[in-house]
Amino acid sequence: MASVITGIDTAALSSLLEKVHRDTGYDFREYKRGTVTRRLERRLHATGVKTYLEYMEFLDAHPEEYQRLADDLTIKVSEFFRSPYTFRQVDSLMLPELASFKRDRGERSLRFWSTSCARGEEPYSMAILLAEFLGNRRQDFDISIYATDVSRQALREARAGVYSPKGVKGLTPTLLEKYFTRYDKGYVAKTDIRQMVSFSYFDLTSTIRQPFMNLDCIFCCNVLIYLQSQLQKRVLSMLYDSLTAPGYLVLGEAETPTNSLNEKLACLDSKAKIYKKNRRRR
Ligand SMILES: C[S@@+](CC[C@H](N)C(=O)[O-])C[C@H]1O[C@@H](n2cnc3c(N)ncnc32)[C@H](O)[C@@H]1O
Repeated sequence: MASVITGIDTAALSSLLEKVHRDTGYDFREYKRGTVTRRLERRLHATGVKTYLEYMEFLDAHPEEYQRLADDLTIKVSEFFRSPYTFRQVDSLMLPELASFKRDRGERSLRFWSTSCARGEEPYSMAILLAEFLGNRRQDFDISIYATDVSRQALREARAGVYSPKGVKGLTPTLLEKYFTRYDKGYVAKTDIRQMVSFSYFDLTSTIRQPFMNLDCIFCCNVLIYLQSQLQKRVLSMLYDSLTAPGYLVLGEAETPTNSLNEKLACLDSKAKIYKKNRRRR
């Protein structure tokens, strides 16, 4: 398809992203241009227009297209225990250390945040991991798992906790039986783990204050990869401020965080990118 994108019209692209931000609040201005242009090219093709300027006119005439564009730009691919290695390392390195710290201090609260939760696969995996790790010590803790995303549709689906047979492929048969109920078209998460997670809207590009404080652990997986480095830095700094000490930041195998992270945080696992905020700034 011949399109503007081969010789990117940077000025028109910036105007388009400004317009989307102004009209919808979605802020893709500091997302990586490669991903944005590839996804936009699909929308241009689908709507039958050839240039960004024509696409802006199309948006004015068909405001419902904004949502389709946002759906395409917020890539919601996820899976239960998506990176098994990362979850294994969280289970074997981080949870024992965190639980023993809490026990020694006589503290009951365990506060986790999944910052880009998609349809709930990640926060429910965290809930299952905690439930399995703690077993009957679970009553000793007040567990809160906050799960946020910029996609309201994904959040609605996450709250419902309903998955197709394909959607639960990351779960072992044992975990599936223990934490999900089968129904004719698929599986629904049991109340037990649904009650551990609270879903709400939060946009990581937002410049308002962080929504949660004193967190023990934050998962920010498979989302920074879509952001330009300045925005990545701002998000990571906000996440750092949201952690208590000791507190853990889990980025997963796909992310390649900026070096500045190593100046502030100790790296527990360089492959799973698990970092620890210590008592004192390093
Ligand atoms: C590829 S999915 C990753 C889901 C999950 N964290 C995982 O690792 O499987 C990326 C998610 O980031 C969300 N997202 C994209 N931009 C965001 C933003 N600015 N603020 C919050 N969430 C965002 C998308 O809606 C999508 O659900």
